[in-house]
Amino acid sequence: MNKSMATDKLAQFDQLHLLSFYDSLSESSKEQLLEQIDNLDLTVLERFHDDAEAVRGKFEPLGALTLDEIRQNEPEFRETGLKAIREGKVGCILLAGGQGSRLGFDHPKGMFNIGIERELYIYQCLFNNLMNATDEAGAFVHLFIMTSESNDAETREFLEENKFFGYSAEYVHFFIQEMAPVVDDKGKVLMTAPDTIAMSPNGNGGWFSSMNRADLLPFLKKEGIEWLNVFAVDNVLQRMADPVFIGAVIESGCKSGGKVVAKADPNERVGVLCTEDGKPSIVEYYEMTEEMITQREPDGRLSYNYGVILNYLFRTDSLFETLGKNLPLHMAHKAVAYIDENGKKITPDKPNAYKFETLVLDMIHMQKSCLAYEVVREKEFAPVKNKTGVDSVDTARELLKKNGIKL
Ligand code: UTP
Repeated sequence: MNKSMATDKLAQFDQLHLLSFYDSLSESSKEQLLEQIDNLDLTVLERFHDDAEAVRGKFEPLGALTLDEIRQNEPEFRETGLKAIREGKVGCILLAGGQGSRLGFDHPKGMFNIGIERELYIYQCLFNNLMNATDEAGAFVHLFIMTSESNDAETREFLEENKFFGYSAEYVHFFIQEMAPVVDDKGKVLMTAPDTIAMSPNGNGGWFSSMNRADLLPFLKKEGIEWLNVFAVDNVLQRMADPVFIGAVIESGCKSGGKVVAKADPNERVGVLCTEDGKPSIVEYYEMTEEMITQREPDGRLSYNYGVILNYLFRTDSLFETLGKNLPLHMAHKAVAYIDENGKKITPDKPNAYKFETLVLDMIHMQKSCLAYEVVREKEFAPVKNKTGVDSVDTARELLKKNGIKL
């Protein structure tokens, strides 16, 4: 791409300011900037302020398979799940492309050492948990790790150096998610240097299309992987390839499943699994009316009771069916360092920019059905989002200790 082509492309989206430093750049920097502009998908800008959350259908409560019901049927569910794992029908997707900005750790989040007297990395916790299931089954599952352009090399190097914490390297695959431009509150794309456009990973919802781009889908077919268990990198108590969960979803006949926890109180800030226009969906806490928040079932339980913990099971064939469909685009308001019109670096301490993200939870609404599967919060949910306070290193350490993990 040359300067005049770049000018044409940017003019269409009113983003000509991205070339304002161009004439003062070295030849190699000019080339770098033009290449970025060439690769830039600016069509997302057309959806700026077209708030995805605003257009919602009719919500109705969705019950869950409760802890009691799971306990009663556990041996049968476990057997079904273990069989699926042993037959190679289950794959795992680790979403690790996020920037973990709230934690403020300068490396991929999985590299964070949550140990106190010994080294215990977040990745190590995850591999240990996964191996609980694969040891029980006596078979490995293929694990696909989604990284972003910003953290791919470091993640691979770290895991390879640590020999995947005992997991079989043959069963670990990496793929890179796409990036999207970051804009200010007027919809202007930001720059982080005179020759660099501000970009961020495009959310965790694009993982299946990113796998497609990485040409991994024929591999899924070849291996006969029928179910994909998708989860976040930052829950150190995350149970992956959990045979009982997998067995319960298979036996339910549902096309997908989501692990949920009962809300700690009606106003807990968590997305709740429910139905929307008759299809499974997740309603965010800020989208719920007072009536929905307080509504109760005849047994006294909250009608919108089950919060998601970013651990889902999808049928691969359903994912193939929805591959071409667009997910809603959300705008995440974040603090992003940038250069101003004079080239001066600004590091804001409060949100100044919007990142465009698709979310894995929206994929649930594309499935015909979803089994909400209740788990014990203290045993399975210890997210590391912040340094201190709620969902932090401190709270996760407490929960790890409670579960008998030596720190
Ligand atoms: P979060 O929503 O917590 O985002 O991600 P984050 O980027 O990690 O953290 P903050 O908001 O900047 O502090 C939930 C999960 O989705 C993954 C994360 O790695 C985490 O496992 N994720 C998020 C991606 O894989 N890609 C993304 O673009 C965003």
